[in-house]
Amino acid sequence: MKRCSKVIGTGGYLPETVRTNEDISKLVDTTDEWIVERTGIKTRRIAGPEESAASMAEIAALQAIEMSGTEAGEIDLIIVATGSPDRVYPSTACMLQHRLEIQNCVSFDIQAACSGSIFALSIADQYIKSGAADKVLIVGTEICSRLIDWTDRGTCILFGDGAGAVLLDSSDTFGILSTHIHSDGAFEDLLYCPNPQVATDSNINEKGFITMKGNEVFKVAVNTLGRIVDETLAANGLDKSDIDWLVPHQANTRIIAATARKLKMSMDQVVLTLENQGNTSSASVLLALNEAVRDGRIKRGQLILLEAFGAGFTWGSALIKY
Ligand code: ACO
Repeated sequence: MKRCSKVIGTGGYLPETVRTNEDISKLVDTTDEWIVERTGIKTRRIAGPEESAASMAEIAALQAIEMSGTEAGEIDLIIVATGSPDRVYPSTACMLQHRLEIQNCVSFDIQAACSGSIFALSIADQYIKSGAADKVLIVGTEICSRLIDWTDRGTCILFGDGAGAVLLDSSDTFGILSTHIHSDGAFEDLLYCPNPQVATDSNINEKGFITMKGNEVFKVAVNTLGRIVDETLAANGLDKSDIDWLVPHQANTRIIAATARKLKMSMDQVVLTLENQGNTSSASVLLALNEAVRDGRIKRGQLILLEAFGAGFTWGSALIKY
């Protein structure tokens, strides 16, 4: 039997504070109507001052561990995807390892912006398939609200905070069928977040806020996600109609609807969380997966297509027989 990576637990955490479109319309020139129509977002969660990427990751991770019925000490590898780490180093993954009181495992962060959880799934799958690890914990955790210029209406309407987790285990039955990840650094200027403390002379005056040419990003995202769907189906010899659920990165309802159309899927087969979460970057796919697993929509044996697109540009997919 082929060795593969099976999902044995999922988890998610959203901070308590809700920021509505009305709240944002008091900060910038926008309206609830505009935001809902152009993005699908109504509210998003904002982390409290005492919360951190690691503290949110811990809550999501503990849920995934509990669902799996295993012990934290059995985890071989922790991969945290984040673009808003608490510290440049140590990695948020090392901080999470300490919080989970695990002594003997390897932990590292990866940075692929909104595609982070898909990249992490791809890395984890290689470790498991090769036999280098059995249990791998993946967490996407983001405090996007601290990277936002709350006077920039092009970005402050979009993002939210949260953490999603998945625990994988080696299996000889079913699990991840394939992952496909890509990047192209040529688009850096369309979407980036500076790190002013390590700036060079040419960008010394930039502030540490997400900067985006939204309309241009939108167009590339729609085309690219269409291509990744074709690539994933072809690699597995599957037809569009074989997919039971689409679990997309939650950036914009219009981008998600375009991918669903490409798959000839009804929106009832798409897990949508962005209405009340906004774009939680690397957390969003895992938060959506967790929601649909826990409310019983996603069932064992079903085919789930996860996909994401983000800064870099980075993009990717994971096809999972859940
Ligand atoms: N409220 C009201 N009007 C606005 C707002 C706002 N919040 N923002 C922009 N506008 C105006 C613009 O000024 C423009 O006005 P003009 O026609 O007079 O010049 C008009 O609305 C249209 O602006 P567009 O930028 O063309 O609006 P668009 O329909 O593209 O929506 C949005 C903007 C929501 C940002 C969209 O482009 C989008 O979702 N882009 C993709 C984001 C994404 O997927 N990012 C990747 C992941 S993020 C990551 O990796 C970190």
